[in-house]
Amino acid sequence: MSVLRHDAQVLKTSVQWLFNSREHHNYTYDLTARNREHLAWFLSSVTDAPVSDFRRWLDEVEYDDTLRASLSKGVAASNRRGLADKTVRYGRRIGWYACVRALKPKHVVETGIDKGLGSCLIASALRRNVEEGHPGRLSALDINPDAGYLIQGELRDFVDVILGDSLKTIPALTVPVDLFIHDSWHSSEHEAAEFELVENKLSKKAMLLTDNAAETDVLIQHAERTGRRFLYFQELPDRHWHPGDGTGMAWVNRSENH
Ligand SMILES: C[S@@+](CC[C@H](N)C(=O)[O-])C[C@H]1O[C@@H](n2cnc3c(N)ncnc32)[C@H](O)[C@@H]1O
Repeated sequence: MSVLRHDAQVLKTSVQWLFNSREHHNYTYDLTARNREHLAWFLSSVTDAPVSDFRRWLDEVEYDDTLRASLSKGVAASNRRGLADKTVRYGRRIGWYACVRALKPKHVVETGIDKGLGSCLIASALRRNVEEGHPGRLSALDINPDAGYLIQGELRDFVDVILGDSLKTIPALTVPVDLFIHDSWHSSEHEAAEFELVENKLSKKAMLLTDNAAETDVLIQHAERTGRRFLYFQELPDRHWHPGDGTGMAWVNRSENH
């Protein structure tokens, strides 16, 4: 009976998605309320910042109506609108946003831009940080010249879009990297090469994130080799057929850093 109930629920969300969504890759969804609360605790444990701050930052981005409206408008205005939903759903990217709010990085690198949803959330967090006296910029790397069409208006001021294969553009970075997010070509080899190449560009307390940790052990192995800690956060999508991706995080233990 439980199996039938579960399968019927998946079938229902799948059919709704088939009729309502235009996405055929890089699927977007919201997280369930409990999953968001778990995310707040997860990030609080990783960064040593109070969970109440993370709840506030997760709310800050979820309920930023101006950001949501401008992203929705950006989708509607794009000539690729046939491939994206007008309803904006952030999923794990709210975790990226909260990380930027917590860590106040001077330089964030995101490999893989696609529409630019993650880039816009990171840029929005950088904009809030600068208002509080903590400037920072995002280097957003993609091989596709059409990537990043959502990065518009004021947010554009916080982002340097760098085109080319990330295995070529990472070695050319000149500013130390405080937060690195792998979300480009998701083969183990490419992911491993990105982490290898960025290693000597990282600042001392840099945080490494991967969007690929449900599929590979690359960041686990890299963390072990470089003396970092590692944890994985599993997403639980709200009313979506997708089983959920997740975020792997590697960081230097703060007490070993003093
Ligand atoms: C999963 S999407 C990125 C999603 C994005 N971070 C977001 O928040 O929605 C993957 C992107 O990686 C880019 N990509 C694929 N191979 C790449 C490479 N070798 N170097 C840089 N970018 C690459 C693709 O063009 C695509 O835009």
